[in-house]
Amino acid sequence: MNIAIIGYGKMGKVIEQIAVERGHSIVLKISSSNKEDLNVENLKNVDAAIEMTQPDAAKENILLCLNAGVPVTSGTTGWNDEIPVAEQAAKNNDTAFLYASNYSVGVNIFFEVNKILAKLMNKQSDYNVSMTEIHHTQKKDSPSGTAITLANQILESVDRKSNWSEEDNNADTLHITALREEGVPGTHSIKYSSDIDDIEITHTAHNRNGFALGAVLAAEYIFDKKGVFSMQDVLGIN
Ligand SMILES: NC(=O)c1ccc[n+]([C@@H]2O[C@H](COP(=O)([O-])OP(=O)(O)OC[C@H]3O[C@@H](n4cnc5c(N)ncnc54)[C@H](OP(=O)(O)O)[C@@H]3O)[C@@H](O)[C@H]2O)c1
Repeated sequence: MNIAIIGYGKMGKVIEQIAVERGHSIVLKISSSNKEDLNVENLKNVDAAIEMTQPDAAKENILLCLNAGVPVTSGTTGWNDEIPVAEQAAKNNDTAFLYASNYSVGVNIFFEVNKILAKLMNKQSDYNVSMTEIHHTQKKDSPSGTAITLANQILESVDRKSNWSEEDNNADTLHITALREEGVPGTHSIKYSSDIDDIEITHTAHNRNGFALGAVLAAEYIFDKKGVFSMQDVLGIN
């Protein structure tokens, strides 16, 4: 496949390495210094675009590709409210879009474990549930997109929690602690705590390779498809 990498930063560089290892060609690399190169002409020989930039740039980049008929996988976090616009654009243009707040295969398995545990704990009202996420200090959004996905999954099943917040104020609030530490690629923990015991599940990314591999797997999955897809489709865990 000919791949465009939109956002040639920490993630974009690892995506390039893994995509090339998997036999793909990187035909376009975009960062903020050459963003005018992201245009219809340069997208003509692109089979799929992988977008990982920043929250205020994602929608514009993605719509440009989708409107040019180029399938897009995006992992930029922090622009959740506008994702439906991109999904609609993929449908309107008969092309494909896949968004994942976290492309790691391990995290997507962790999402499924989180859903099962939340269902099991719904009736166990002696346990309070809380979350912690840790990321590197350059991360722009807080809490992380992955933490928000995990929190929403818990809210869907644990009736005694009605919202999430970084403020630890109400009993019906799922408290998220977001910590920023140098060099941490991404750690997410969910803890159900009672006077008697705790149940804790944690996913720890050791590096960025898992995110990059997942994004390339997603591009391989959607490049010849039409519609809106998820990592569950890519991993066959729907
Ligand atoms: N879904 C996942 O699995 C996953 C995993 C890790 C990270 N992420 C997310 O991916 C995004 C990128 O993370 P990162 O760690 O790679 O960040 P990064 O190192 O800051 O890289 C961001 C890249 O985007 C470029 N950029 C900024 N504005 C742009 C624009 N308007 N058009 C085109 N390119 C633009 C930057 O260019 P300059 O350097 O020239 O400014 C830089 O190359 C973040 O939202 C992060 O949360 C997602």
